Amino acid sequence: DWTMAAYRETKVREIREQVGDGKVICGLSGGVDSSVAAILIHEAIGDQLTCVFVDHGLLRLNEREQVETMFRDHYNIPLVVVDAEEMFMEGLAGVTDPEAKRKFIGKTFIDVFEAEAKNVGGADFLAQGTLYPDVIESVSFTGGPSVTIKSHHNVGGLPERMNMQLVEPLRELFKDEVRELGRELGLPDMFVGRHPFPGPGLAIRIPGEVTKERCDILRKADAIYLDEIRKAGLYDAIWQAFAVLLPVKTVGVMGDYRTYDSVCGLRAVTSTDGMTADVYPFDAAFLTGCATRIVNEVQGINRVVYDYTSKPPGTIEWE
Ligand code: XMP
Repeated sequence: DWTMAAYRETKVREIREQVGDGKVICGLSGGVDSSVAAILIHEAIGDQLTCVFVDHGLLRLNEREQVETMFRDHYNIPLVVVDAEEMFMEGLAGVTDPEAKRKFIGKTFIDVFEAEAKNVGGADFLAQGTLYPDVIESVSFTGGPSVTIKSHHNVGGLPERMNMQLVEPLRELFKDEVRELGRELGLPDMFVGRHPFPGPGLAIRIPGEVTKERCDILRKADAIYLDEIRKAGLYDAIWQAFAVLLPVKTVGVMGDYRTYDSVCGLRAVTSTDGMTADVYPFDAAFLTGCATRIVNEVQGINRVVYDYTSKPPGTIEWE
């Protein structure tokens, strides 16, 4: 009989067997997957685990502070926060191709980890919160030929030069199961219920060139949208909701002035595993409210549109 409590015990045993008295570093993304992986591994091997949180400047508003509070203060898990915003922004300058963004971000992540592994005194293992859908979507498009749709940077991107083995205790799980495991491990509901957030972060929500300025604009719009969703009590009914910042300027009017600013797209979908998704049917008044707030409160955005594409044929992210 399969239960999450039994899965937890099995994985704790397997992690201990795999790791022995070695050292593990785990990259935290702020998402549920890497958090659950880290807490599970910490349960198995305690302070042989060091978590590394890379602030690549592509995070949502206040995300870094939330992760610091959770891991340092609440769980007492050794945590290193790396401030790498400048490095990422410099490397992303001029990059517009979605896969090129992912490749740069994935590679740079690994470089940062490698450096941190040395600081930890030679970690032998790298832990990742890879899920089952990540494993299959990275390999091929379901039902089609072997074509990579999106290369998730957290799968298979580990160069041999790192000389580290992977620890991936969530590889057999779907998202809803990871959440169940998180609850089993005592993660607060508020955290377990968080929407998924991609490793490349806001970079794949800014079609075209990514700059710090555009990240700042998007962070504000995204926070307003999610604030409205929470206030309306809709957060838990939605799989993922986020704003995107389009590389298109349109004309608007604010008071007596003509504006010429960027378009913000809003996305919200329901899903059970991210493989397929349906558009969340907000009522019109809700979307109008979000659009009004975003245009009024975020300098740099003067128009808001809602994405009505399901997956397939769309993907959840815009890149
Ligand atoms: P798509 O856009 O492929 O997204 O329909 C499916 C799920 O995967 C997430 N996603 C990513 N996660 N690295 C990640 O860690 C990535 O490069 C990446 N691309 C998409 C997306 O947010 C959704 O939950």
